[in-house]
Amino acid sequence: MGVAEDDPGVLFVCLGNICRSPTAEGVFRALAERAGIAERIRIDSAGTGDWHVGRPPDPRAIAAARNRGIELGHLRGRQVTAADFARFDWILAMDRYNLRTLRAMQPSSFRGHLGLLLDFAPELGVSEVPDPYAGDASDFDHVLDLIERASAALLTHLRVNPVPR
Ligand code: 4NP
Repeated sequence: MGVAEDDPGVLFVCLGNICRSPTAEGVFRALAERAGIAERIRIDSAGTGDWHVGRPPDPRAIAAARNRGIELGHLRGRQVTAADFARFDWILAMDRYNLRTLRAMQPSSFRGHLGLLLDFAPELGVSEVPDPYAGDASDFDHVLDLIERASAALLTHLRVNPVPR
């Protein structure tokens, strides 16, 4: 069974689509698989920038995720497009800069939820996943810590509210 047209769609968005958003895609898919509902959710990621289109995730993101049993090596970068607002119900930005870019692209017909991923885990006390691109392995681990917490909360939310309100 594949993802059907009316299944909820979740799109994670960062700047390059090689560090944070592919990490979120992989983490969220692993959680959905564990919950047995991955086939009923369309899950993807994209970047607001186009520098890394067609490229695999950053090797540091792949290594950090692999340490936690999550495989990202098959993913390829792509840029977010206006069509994504028709395909996805939940569009979750990693930081406010990317959220602003998405808001500027958002068609008036969009009825979904556009917001920050970390808003699903307010107990973290931070609302942005920091860009690890200029950082080191510990920054990539921190990204994973934040994304794991928020993705678990997002999945719980989606199981109760598959359609954004
Ligand atoms: P990401 O990290 O947005 O988490 O994928 C970045 C990757 C690349 C660049 C910036 C951020 N870049 O400027 O190339």
